[in-house]
Amino acid sequence: MKLLITGGAGFIGSNFVLYMLQQHPEYEIVNVDALTYAGNLENLKAIEQNPKHTFVKADICDAAKMDELIGQGVDIVVNFAAESHVDRSILEPDVFVKTNVLGTQVLLDAAKKHNVTKFVQVSTDEVYGTLGETGLFTEETPLTPNSPYSASKAGGDLLVRAYHETFGLPVNITRCSNNYGPYQFPEKLIPLIISKALNDQPLPVYGDGLNIRDWLYVEDHCSAIDLVIHEGVNGEVYNIGGNNERTNLHIIRTILEQLGKPESLITYVQDRPGHDRRYGIDPAKITNELGWKPKHNFETGIRETIAWYLDNKEWWTRIQSGEYEQYYAQQYGERLGESQ
Ligand code: NAD
Ligand code: DAU
Repeated sequence: MKLLITGGAGFIGSNFVLYMLQQHPEYEIVNVDALTYAGNLENLKAIEQNPKHTFVKADICDAAKMDELIGQGVDIVVNFAAESHVDRSILEPDVFVKTNVLGTQVLLDAAKKHNVTKFVQVSTDEVYGTLGETGLFTEETPLTPNSPYSASKAGGDLLVRAYHETFGLPVNITRCSNNYGPYQFPEKLIPLIISKALNDQPLPVYGDGLNIRDWLYVEDHCSAIDLVIHEGVNGEVYNIGGNNERTNLHIIRTILEQLGKPESLITYVQDRPGHDRRYGIDPAKITNELGWKPKHNFETGIRETIAWYLDNKEWWTRIQSGEYEQYYAQQYGERLGESQ
């Protein structure tokens, strides 16, 4: 089995590559990533020498390259590559449309041309917009995205659906809630709060801090995608979530308590424009139809996550100083004949 995984140097993608090589050591993985600011080859250090893993630095919008790579006997495409940070999408929406919409369409075209047996689009619960105090997102919830990020992800999802309906491409779309765990870029809430708290810096809380997210440990997301690849019914959407709704303030207080840091670090700042109030996933479909179950609840997951950031301080300090960007040049520059 040969998989092309895009965005495999990012947070979830790198966790997924490591997970798949452990679960299916016989699979061959081609890992395509443009190495934007969010891509970090240090996440993949453990498999640098693994002959089943090949890293290719490329942009998913590069149609000739995607055609060449998928044409080399790829069976399955899993698309993680995306611009993923909501705050950045408010500052520069254009790059989100390019990667998340056009890039997805480029991959779909190549997948169709080379008759892949499965195309999995890794999407997000944010395409459903925001919830009130009650109810959960199901696969039937209408798409009402509120940020340029979520609108661009919804655009990608609709193209995936259309390639199934029009061309019969065997696709699945997964829509997951907020992930956390090792290798998450420290612009996202949990690693941002851990790293700032460890440095005794102010912790920026948007608005009243009572927005709710539904947290899933990244390894549980990986196991769900592995299942969808193998058991997902073509054309179906699967929501993924572990019933772990928490307010942002609850998350921040939990981290402060576990690090032994004072609540006086909490600093309320201006709210994010268009800030969705509440996300909550109903995972009944993937649970009942595919038998998926998360292994972690929030209490065990956050404990493991904090321990990882404490043990891997060098990983995130190198990101904060920008040093991680030199790693590609050192490791791969000469081998690939690049001068960066
Ligand atoms: P990330 O920002 O950490 O990683 C994205 C990766 O994609 C990076 O390695 C980046 O270099 C790469 N990339 C960006 N543009 C590219 C392009 N044009 N061509 C090739 N590579 C490109 O993101 P993440 O948090 O790991 O999210 C991965 C996927 O999961 C995204 O599609 C995101 O929408 C989705 N998702 C994320 C979460 C979450 O909580 N993080 C939840 C649900 C869904
Ligand atoms: O729901 C899935 C989505 O989760 C993914 O599709 C996105 O790629 C991922 O980034 C994430 O989006 P959020 O906007 O929910 O994540 P973020 O970590 O940016 O913010 C989580 C919550 O914390 C949100 O309510 C905003 C708030 N926040 C965030 C930051 C960065 C703060 O209060 N302060 C901050 O500094």
